[in-house]
Amino acid sequence: MSIVKINVLTVPEEQRETLEKRFAARAGAVENSDGFEWFELLRPVEGTDTYLVYTRWRSEEDFQNWMSGQGQAAHRGGGGGGTEGTERPKPAASGATLWSFEVVQQAAPGQSGPATE
Ligand code: HEM
Repeated sequence: MSIVKINVLTVPEEQRETLEKRFAARAGAVENSDGFEWFELLRPVEGTDTYLVYTRWRSEEDFQNWMSGQGQAAHRGGGGGGTEGTERPKPAASGATLWSFEVVQQAAPGQSGPATE
């Protein structure tokens, strides 16, 4: 089954808008990547200053390929990235941690019975 990579971003209240705008500006950055299955930017509603960047992939290899190719490109500018002399905006996130999971079981509306794969 698929794998899930969740990037946990610590975002101070006053940086939320900046972060969300930067993600909006990257719309389309991941959709056509090989093995990409799902992306969600999850805004915290109460009690925490951590956003979750939920992504799901066909395999670990597909994720690694995205990270070393298009994923790197998607992170250039708008915080993070390299330092090749050009002025870069400050990251909105003050910290990031990557969580990795294997999907053990899943359900979707309209499906019934055990999964066939
Ligand atoms: C699980 C996969 C991902 C990892 C490991 C990852 C990694 C990171 C890290 C380390 C940061 C914080 C440092 C920084 O500001 O650059 C960040 C922020 C960001 N990422 Fe990702 N990312 C992932 C998925 C995505 C996807 C799918 C998109 C685009 C659709 C994306 C777009 C952005 C944007 C716009 C920021 C905000 C930069 C800021 O202002 O703080 N990321 N990501």
